[in-house]
Amino acid sequence: MTATPTRIVRVDGNRAIPEDWYPGTVPDNAQIDATAYVGSSYSFQRCRSELPIGVEIGRGASLCDATSLDIGARGVVRLGEYALVNGARIICDTEIEIGDYSLVSWDVVLMDTYRVPFDPDERGRALVDGTFGANPARPIRIGRNAWIGFGACVLPGATIGDGSIVAARSVVAAGVPPYVVVAGNPARIIREQIRAR
Ligand SMILES: CC(C)(COP(=O)(O)OP(=O)(O)OC[C@H]1O[C@@H](n2cnc3c(N)ncnc32)[C@H](O)[C@@H]1OP(=O)(O)O)[C@@H](O)C(=O)NCCC(=O)NCCS
Repeated sequence: MTATPTRIVRVDGNRAIPEDWYPGTVPDNAQIDATAYVGSSYSFQRCRSELPIGVEIGRGASLCDATSLDIGARGVVRLGEYALVNGARIICDTEIEIGDYSLVSWDVVLMDTYRVPFDPDERGRALVDGTFGANPARPIRIGRNAWIGFGACVLPGATIGDGSIVAARSVVAAGVPPYVVVAGNPARIIREQIRAR
């Protein structure tokens, strides 16, 4: 099932979604396929990417409106064809890729960066002068046809293989191979899956 494609219009020079419940705009560096669904400009309110393309939404993909894309100046988030992201929080300072036909459920957190310094003194200073973002970011890659259950958390540098499932509220900090089900904190393989032909 694919949602109705979103029509994006120009209003006073800005890109907007007609009848949007949120009074925001869609950034010019969000490349959205004409067949994709984007629920609301709310998803882009924390999008600060300065790259030529900071968000890429593929053919038939859906970005449902409670999703928040918190993207730093050098970040890019990519949704593949027919990928569906429903109410996730995505924090990206380098690259987060969600493969074709993958499903990301509500309250999932994908973060390729912690932003907050590990060093206690630096952390204290950051709270005073706002110099967050000191930690290096590591890309997250979610393969094709994966399913991330509600409330799961995917940490910097994690990868999830094609066809795999992450159970609800699991924490993924490393690599999940293709065609397995993982669960728990830290997420461990609970089952192999039958590979699609
Ligand atoms: C991944 C999932 C689909 C697996 O379901 P399942 O195959 O019925 O799994 P089972 O209930 O048979 O559990 C198998 C084992 O994994 C454990 N397990 C299952 N889900 C778990 C979870 N979220 N966290 C920790 N352990 C979990 C079970 O306790 C069981 O352990 P045991 O063998 O020691 O008894 C399911 O756990 C899940 O997360 N569903 C959420 C779906 C979702 O997010 N839907 C939102 C709409 S997109």
